[in-house]
Amino acid sequence: MFFPVTRLRRMRSNRTIRDMVAETKLMPEKLIQPYFVIFGEGKKIPVNSMPEVFQYSVDELIPEIKNAFALGLRSVLLFGIPEKKDEAGSSSRDGHGVVQTAIARIKAEVPEMYVVADVCLCEYTSHGHCGLILDGAVDNDRTLELLGEMALSFARSGADMIAPSDMMDGRVGMIRQALDEAGFTNVPIMSYSAKYSSAFYGPFREAAGSAPQFGDRKTYQMDYRNAAEALREIDQDLEEGADIVMIKPALSYLDVVAKVKAEAKAPVAAYNVSGEYSMVKAAAKNGWIDEKKVVVEILTSIARAGADIIITYHAKELLEWIKHEEVKL
Ligand code: PBG
Repeated sequence: MFFPVTRLRRMRSNRTIRDMVAETKLMPEKLIQPYFVIFGEGKKIPVNSMPEVFQYSVDELIPEIKNAFALGLRSVLLFGIPEKKDEAGSSSRDGHGVVQTAIARIKAEVPEMYVVADVCLCEYTSHGHCGLILDGAVDNDRTLELLGEMALSFARSGADMIAPSDMMDGRVGMIRQALDEAGFTNVPIMSYSAKYSSAFYGPFREAAGSAPQFGDRKTYQMDYRNAAEALREIDQDLEEGADIVMIKPALSYLDVVAKVKAEAKAPVAAYNVSGEYSMVKAAAKNGWIDEKKVVVEILTSIARAGADIIITYHAKELLEWIKHEEVKL
């Protein structure tokens, strides 16, 4: 008997056979591109810590989204930066708010673009926390009602899907009820179920102007030392009516993505967050890595771990690279 009998290299000898046996393929239709929307006109403001990411006024966002749709992007996730902030984040529930306006315009001008609206108070509150502050702490139950109203306001503007990212207990159930009572029974909820308290959100907080003015988010976002707890969060959200469960961030949490995929009987999303994006951009700018190859490898690894849906700031640029045949998936 010759050794070795098993030669795994046989299946790697050329691109054709490698493609044939590939277990994972990145599918552009499973990517969601986040956008930051601001008030005003003619504004396209670069975000310092996130190269090639901008804050758009609605009039600038529309051509950007038309262009992205033409490249093959099918879904966007919207974040709003309001004109005025207050203790209760009132502008988040304003029918003429910045995200509400953007949703309505996108659905009018690019109706096939699937619009997901992020529901969380932190971009709208003066203190930058994700809920109402009572006696110096974020009050869970009083926040729930506001989140329900915010979600409903987005649904009324035409949002295709609601994505709560606040991490209050019970918010999925509250939002589901608010949507159902108003007749939005067909609007799904993609819950940020296992959202960790992470330093990888740093650049986002600059983009969205949402850094907490005191303390941190550790009393509501998950502790990154925990994985079993993520499964409890997932179970709870599914029981409350979540349609899709999300793990966030993605890269340092691929073990959690894999565990959730193995257990949850629902589609799994992973959020490749701002800090993960900016690290790639910074290294690429220095010429230390091959950006396009690294991005394809990162996104494929998130899919391989089990994510059905990937939210990433790289989505549109990846579609551009595919169009110009600069990458192969
Ligand atoms: C709002 C929210 C955050 C992100 C998405 N929704 C920031 C936070 O919780 O501080 C982070 C996204 C990213 O870093 O790309 N709560």
